[in-house]
Amino acid sequence: KEAKLWGGRFEESVTDAVERFTESISYDKQLYKHDIMGSRAHASMLAHQGLMSDSDRDSILQGLDQIEKQIEAGEFVWRTDREDVHMNIEAALTDLIGEPAKKLHTARSRNDQVLTDFRLWCRDAIDAILSFIKRLQVSLVTLAEKNEGLIVPGYTHMQRAQPVLLQHLLLAYVEQLERDAGRLLDCRVRLNFCPLGACALAGTGLPIDRFMTSKALGFTAPLRNSIDAVSDRDFVLEFLSANSIIAIHLSRIGEEWVMWASEEFGFLTPSDSVSTGSSIMPQKKNPDPMELVRGKSARIVGDLVSLLVLCKGLPHAYNRDLQEDKEPVFDSVKTIIGMLEVSAEFAQNITFNQERIKKALPAGHLDATTLADYLGVPFRTSHDIVGRAVGCCVSKNCQLQDLSLDELRSINPVFEKDVYEFLGVENSIKKFCSYGSTGAECVASQLEYWMSKLNID
Ligand code: ARG
Repeated sequence: KEAKLWGGRFEESVTDAVERFTESISYDKQLYKHDIMGSRAHASMLAHQGLMSDSDRDSILQGLDQIEKQIEAGEFVWRTDREDVHMNIEAALTDLIGEPAKKLHTARSRNDQVLTDFRLWCRDAIDAILSFIKRLQVSLVTLAEKNEGLIVPGYTHMQRAQPVLLQHLLLAYVEQLERDAGRLLDCRVRLNFCPLGACALAGTGLPIDRFMTSKALGFTAPLRNSIDAVSDRDFVLEFLSANSIIAIHLSRIGEEWVMWASEEFGFLTPSDSVSTGSSIMPQKKNPDPMELVRGKSARIVGDLVSLLVLCKGLPHAYNRDLQEDKEPVFDSVKTIIGMLEVSAEFAQNITFNQERIKKALPAGHLDATTLADYLGVPFRTSHDIVGRAVGCCVSKNCQLQDLSLDELRSINPVFEKDVYEFLGVENSIKKFCSYGSTGAECVASQLEYWMSKLNID
């Protein structure tokens, strides 16, 4: 057995079970690129500060280049007995270049190293998620553009409420995604501070320059407090909270589309390319991708909860428990990207069934509120009058526009001939004009805003 990097004081080697239980290489090897980036910056700083010779620095940099190439070519051997990504790379570097490699861990601990890697990794992950959010927004805006003028029932309590333009609903999704992106950007700002040089927890007596490494790695500044630097996990808690909100948003879109694809609604048809079949029922065509978007939101919330519970009550500074912070983050990022990607593809591959939607519109008295707005008597009175008119429709099994002026006047003389200009879904929706409403002009200006913001032409 190879001696451990930390083996000096030990007389026995660890058992196989302990080795298997404590390793993290099986998953933290994902951090290799950022680990190497951090080591490059650290070695350069050590040489600059006279803590290592320029020639040692050069052989370290060349060795790291070579290791990176081996990893990328799939030729690097990851060893469980070397525990984690940091010690795998350091030990491989020692195998490769010998003595100089032993100087790399000067004024560095795995505690600050792992957090440097992790923050860099999360920063890239946030950038990737942001680009997938944008892709989904573009797909939704394009879908809205294709469906100009299409009126759909708007629901509250899942009961018919008021008519809305489909575009209006699709652009509501886009607004939510924009705030999701904003939350990630906020998180990125707070996350972008450098732990490197905090060492184990107390900093160091060696003359390092933390500002130099921080700058080289693209961080805003070094973290001010070394204990905080190695203890803090709130950057990942915040990141996974932001992911959870995205996931919840996507699950709501998923639910809506799954429902709308049902025979009962029949409002939309996904293309075959985004549907799957049944192993027993030959007729089935299921909207599985969006069901899984809904379903996978559970694990994203689960990942956040795992991290919250992991951190609860942990004393400062580093505790090995914290090694458990990686997998939920890796899972959350991989899952949210998949959800965003597939939602965008789904949006690109659905057709709204205009005929079916049109046929559905008359039911549910979607025009009742517009009528109540029109009557020109105090709203509570108007609400009551229209309520009674609706009651009349319910007993006659007809719509408001089917009631004659006499019938309406028998409820209340306030009705005039022009009442019919307010009735029916098409008439009703024309009346909306408040800022942000579903009126055609308001929606057109929303659409215009998003098309230009997202550079769609
Ligand atoms: N693999 C460890 C982790 O992910 C690295 C830090 C280990 N530090 C230590 N003192 N054991 O947390």
